Amino acid sequence: MPGRILVTGATGTVGRQVTELLLEAGAEVRAFTRGQADLPPAVECARGDLSAPGSLDAAVEGVEAVFLVWPFATVEGLGAVLATAAEHARRVVYLSSAAVREHERQAERLIERSGLEWTVLRPHAFAANALRWAGPIRAEGAVREPYGQAAMSPVHERDIAAVAVRALTEAGHAGAVYELTGPQSLTQAEQVGVIGEVIGRPVRWEETSPQDARRRMLARGWPAQAVDGILRAQAGMTIGPAPVTAAVEEVTGDAARTFRSWVAENAHAFRAVARVPS
Ligand SMILES: NC(=O)c1ccc[n+]([C@@H]2O[C@H](COP(=O)([O-])OP(=O)(O)OC[C@H]3O[C@@H](n4cnc5c(N)ncnc54)[C@H](OP(=O)(O)O)[C@@H]3O)[C@@H](O)[C@H]2O)c1
Repeated sequence: MPGRILVTGATGTVGRQVTELLLEAGAEVRAFTRGQADLPPAVECARGDLSAPGSLDAAVEGVEAVFLVWPFATVEGLGAVLATAAEHARRVVYLSSAAVREHERQAERLIERSGLEWTVLRPHAFAANALRWAGPIRAEGAVREPYGQAAMSPVHERDIAAVAVRALTEAGHAGAVYELTGPQSLTQAEQVGVIGEVIGRPVRWEETSPQDARRRMLARGWPAQAVDGILRAQAGMTIGPAPVTAAVEEVTGDAARTFRSWVAENAHAFRAVARVPS
């Protein structure tokens, strides 16, 4: 039987699924959150903020493993968090990123030296990122963005969670770095096409210029550095198909879920709500 597991980011896209799958596996789950989390009743809540020193102290008592989401663009404070975790837990599974940006590389190094048994997950783009298109698709049946030919292999958050749960609860994953993708490379325009097919309504990709997109994102208050990073990354994805790995299936024994299956599960988000005539 798996023991008690501390899940950070438990209210987020991946952590919520990790929590559910751990409960299904019979683990005791303690969720670390800053707020009033809407989590299953079987989950024990530990309130705290990862940016506040000492905040994790009580939360890691009696846990066997920690699922770590580090939601900051700096590793400041991470060393102390890992030292606290290492006093109690045996394992850590860190949600990194296939992009391995500088702070993620630094975090991975700290984790490797933490004294804990570690596993690093490097997922590619989450399928759930498509939710950013839900508003325009509901309103106009169109997505206006640059780089429609940018290709990615979107990974279902449940598959990331399934790999995490194996690494948190089983032996044999210490020192592993898993690069996680969905089963297929799809351009952004193709992803939007899949959404249209699943909801039974055509959805157009309308290509805009990167300059136009940059202006709109800045107007919405996004930091310039982040905007430029996103646009640069998308430009880099237009050169050909995205890599597809077998890691999800190798670790879990089940084929990685398709983007189409993710859209089918989340179709309500993209369907226009029928107006009741007044
Ligand atoms: N989106 C992608 O395509 C992609 C791809 C690869 C990797 N990633 C990585 O995935 C991670 C994000 O995971 P996600 O999408 O599952 O999360 P998310 O949905 O963005 O949710 C963020 C989580 O972090 C927690 N959190 C935020 N600030 C916190 C703080 N100061 N102290 C404690 N908890 C805090 C939130 O918990 P509360 O609000 O409950 O406190 C929430 O559960 C990032 O590190 C990102 O780089 C994303």
